[in-house]
Amino acid sequence: MKFSRLTLARKLILTMMATSSTALLVACVSFLSYDAIVLRHSIADHLHGLANITGENVAAALTYNDPKSARLVLEALRAVPHIVAAQIYDGNGRSFAAYHQASSASTIQLPEVAPAPANRLDGDRISECDAIILDGEPIGYIYLVSDLQEIHARMRRFVMFTLILIAASSAAGFLVAISLRRLISKPILDLVDTTKRISREKNYRVRAPKFAPDEIGLLVDSFNEMLGEIEFAEAALRSAHQESELFIKSVPSILIGTTADGRINRWNLAAATVFNASADAVMGKPLQDCGISWLNSQPDKGVDSWFGIEGSEKREDVAFEKNGQRRFLGLTIINTIYIPGGETRGFLITGADVTERKVLEEQLRQAQKLEAIGQLAAGIAHEINTPAQFVGDNATFLQETWPALQAVLQACLQLTVESAAGPIAPETVAKLLQYTEKADPTYLLNEVPQAIAQALDGVQRISKIVRAMKEFSHPGSEGKCAIDINRAIETTIAVARNEWKYVADIHTSFGDDLPAVVCLAGEFNQVILNLLINAAHAIGDAVKGSAGSKGTITISTRRDGEWMEVQIRDTGLGIPENIRARIFEPFFTTKEVGKGTGQGLALAHAVIVKTHHGKIWFESEIGKGTTFFLRLPLEQAAVSAAATS
Ligand SMILES: Nc1ncnc2c1ncn2[C@@H]1O[C@H](COP(=O)(O)OP(=O)(O)OP(=O)(O)O)[C@@H](O)[C@H]1O
Ligand SMILES: [Mg+2]
Repeated sequence: MKFSRLTLARKLILTMMATSSTALLVACVSFLSYDAIVLRHSIADHLHGLANITGENVAAALTYNDPKSARLVLEALRAVPHIVAAQIYDGNGRSFAAYHQASSASTIQLPEVAPAPANRLDGDRISECDAIILDGEPIGYIYLVSDLQEIHARMRRFVMFTLILIAASSAAGFLVAISLRRLISKPILDLVDTTKRISREKNYRVRAPKFAPDEIGLLVDSFNEMLGEIEFAEAALRSAHQESELFIKSVPSILIGTTADGRINRWNLAAATVFNASADAVMGKPLQDCGISWLNSQPDKGVDSWFGIEGSEKREDVAFEKNGQRRFLGLTIINTIYIPGGETRGFLITGADVTERKVLEEQLRQAQKLEAIGQLAAGIAHEINTPAQFVGDNATFLQETWPALQAVLQACLQLTVESAAGPIAPETVAKLLQYTEKADPTYLLNEVPQAIAQALDGVQRISKIVRAMKEFSHPGSEGKCAIDINRAIETTIAVARNEWKYVADIHTSFGDDLPAVVCLAGEFNQVILNLLINAAHAIGDAVKGSAGSKGTITISTRRDGEWMEVQIRDTGLGIPENIRARIFEPFFTTKEVGKGTGQGLALAHAVIVKTHHGKIWFESEIGKGTTFFLRLPLEQAAVSAAATS
């Protein structure tokens, strides 16, 4: 096993054993080297002494040239086992007598001529050559060769001893390390236990015990200090989390979180209330199948499609069933990877139950319609009253002239009867002349046809305005239908006549190539009416004070590619710069109470942009007037998309 993988206790034991053994080894090797050197010197000294003694003993043999005696002297060296060879040279340096230990006879070659006197180390042998002196004169030389067996034997013993010493010290080190182990590793193991407990229980209030003020004690202190900081940070995090959870729970909007594949992982209180399902009941379930009965009117926009959204998308009128009732949601689906800081793919769904709002909007639309009709009622009553009055006047005139005419006609009848029976009585003729003169026939011949024509004209005007009213309010047509825009505008101009006729003349310039446009006719008329009345009011303000003067409202329609455009231009005061950004806001008005509620343009914007996917904007010049532009799409795709929405 690798050293790094060993437990700390084992590392400790091994380290102690290795340290003590290494120290011992170094000491032994140093001592051994020293001993070897000293021993070598003592062998050299010993060899020198032995050479002197032996030299003195062979001096006589040399003097008397007696090699035999010299050999005998050399034989005495057998008593010294380390002397493996010896040779005596005469005064000329030639070999005189030699000695070989039996075991080394063949391996040692003694020099033929006496070498220079010296002590030499030669491989595993030491040699000594000394001069043999007699009366101060050298008479020969002695050469001794010793092996190093003594050193080797001593070395072997020393190595054996060293090994035994290392083994013993390792064993002692092992025993000491084992007893010390608890002291060092226990605090570390306790620290490990503490970290394990913290990670298991997630309890940052736990602290590691400290045993001594050493390095491990310092480590424990730092660890406990770090735990303190984590505990503090964790408490702060928990309270921030609780705060944000509380915030999320208390937001009145629905907030649902899902994984990338649509499994619910967040469900706030509003979601629980709207869907009548607690968080526990839906957590981990797919949103498509968590107990909500979704009513998918558009399969491609169903819940499944939400989890493929990149970025964020809005879904209006998402239908679901609750307590047997169809309800609607307005939702925004956000892919969390697109939220700054979002790292994983998932979805956040926010929104609200808009059923009540939709009902209110519908009620408001109806109220607007009724209000417009109510507002127009007085004007329309006036419009009907004028022709009705002269129909009545002419009928009264005819009724009043009838007795005189009746008398003339009766006299004519009597004249006819008498002429058939015989001659006519002169009184009858006189009566006819008298009645005729009284009836004033010249006057009647002129006035009666006029009275009849005027009465018929009045009836026609009444029926026209009634028809326009009928067309304007479009009773019964709730859905979209194709309408003739020009005719719709004319109708609106007619019903609103009383609103503009005192302040403006209307000019129309209708495009004759306009196809029928698919729209909600009632709502479109409402928009035109609002714009017309706004124009009339603006002109009314402009001409106020200059009696009899009138402005002009010009309404034109045209086709521009795939768009149908309506322009309503007035010669009013224009819209002041500072309110231009606000005029489409609901309830923004500059008119006095009773004249405006500020809903006209907000409604017009909703109808044109939201319901019909069209555009509405304006251009205005102070003192010159304002032009409102409406555009509705003619393109079939847009129309059908609008129709389905
Ligand atoms: N043609 C215009 N010329 C000048 N100002 C206009 C014109 N049309 C709208 N405005 C300004 O925009 C404001 C908002 O118009 P909007 O039609 O929404 O409400 P209103 O006419 O005041 O009230 P309501 O239409 O509900 O009766 C008006 O009060 C007016 O100040
Ligand atoms: Mg208005």
